Amino acid sequence: MSSESRLRGKLALVTGVTSGIGAATVRALLSREMRVLGVGRDAQRLADASRDFGPDFQPLLVDLADSAARARAFRDLPEEPVALLVNNAAECVYESPQELPPERLSRLFEVNVTAALELVQVVARRMQPGAHIINLTSVVARHLPAAKFAPYAASKAAFDCLSEGLRLELHPRGIHVSTVAPGLVDTPIYEKVSGFHRAKQKIQEQVPVWLSATDVADAIVWIATRPVHLVVSDLCLLPSAQAR
Ligand SMILES: NC(=O)c1ccc[n+]([C@@H]2O[C@H](COP(=O)([O-])OP(=O)(O)OC[C@H]3O[C@@H](n4cnc5c(N)ncnc54)[C@H](OP(=O)(O)O)[C@@H]3O)[C@@H](O)[C@H]2O)c1
Repeated sequence: MSSESRLRGKLALVTGVTSGIGAATVRALLSREMRVLGVGRDAQRLADASRDFGPDFQPLLVDLADSAARARAFRDLPEEPVALLVNNAAECVYESPQELPPERLSRLFEVNVTAALELVQVVARRMQPGAHIINLTSVVARHLPAAKFAPYAASKAAFDCLSEGLRLELHPRGIHVSTVAPGLVDTPIYEKVSGFHRAKQKIQEQVPVWLSATDVADAIVWIATRPVHLVVSDLCLLPSAQAR
């Protein structure tokens, strides 16, 4: 069986499908004939995305910042084993670690770390050998470009460590775990981050061409279709003008 055909007809679960890298990943997986269950937090945006993705896409409405909503949604996941889980949803803040309200830090970790880990705990139990978990972290967790990125970077660094631990633990069951750490990707995430507008303009002067969401989605598909004896444990993707 070719590597690409291993995905055909199987079930993928992707979080954060209403925008950016998540939406591009859903499109890439559907084009490889996977069936996709996709998490979004906004009913209207998720309904619009579902219409766009078509009949092989099934929406799952859940705000990952809400632990009770997560418990309900994750309990009702389909019995069918998930062949590919992409933990993509995340929030970002751009704020001084001296001034960040503690409840904002808690929310950041709730969405970017706790929710993703809980989902792995539920889904991995039923995964079969050959299944794959791909976790989106960020290059800022390894090279901090500015102090105001520290809270977001801290959440991604925590997820990096947990992801590596999961890789070690799940390997004996034949389940692969990979981390994808992009640099600058042109998605709506930065429009949702208050106080980032001026910083973005400066960054764009240094790095005029950013990655596209499709660049990252293509890398996710590439990772998921390597021969089973090989795992891409960690992949960093940068626009060529981004130093690190
Ligand atoms: N863009 C970059 O430069 C970059 C760089 C490195 C790493 N990353 C990582 O790549 C991943 C995707 O980012 P992106 O740039 O594609 O961001 P994006 O366009 O903002 O997409 C994020 C997705 O996550 C969803 N989401 C956020 N909070 C959620 C919550 N509480 N519950 C459920 N869904 C939630 C968003 O829903 P809404 O549509 O409702 O907002 C959206 O669908 C993230 O893990 C991010 O940290 C991005």
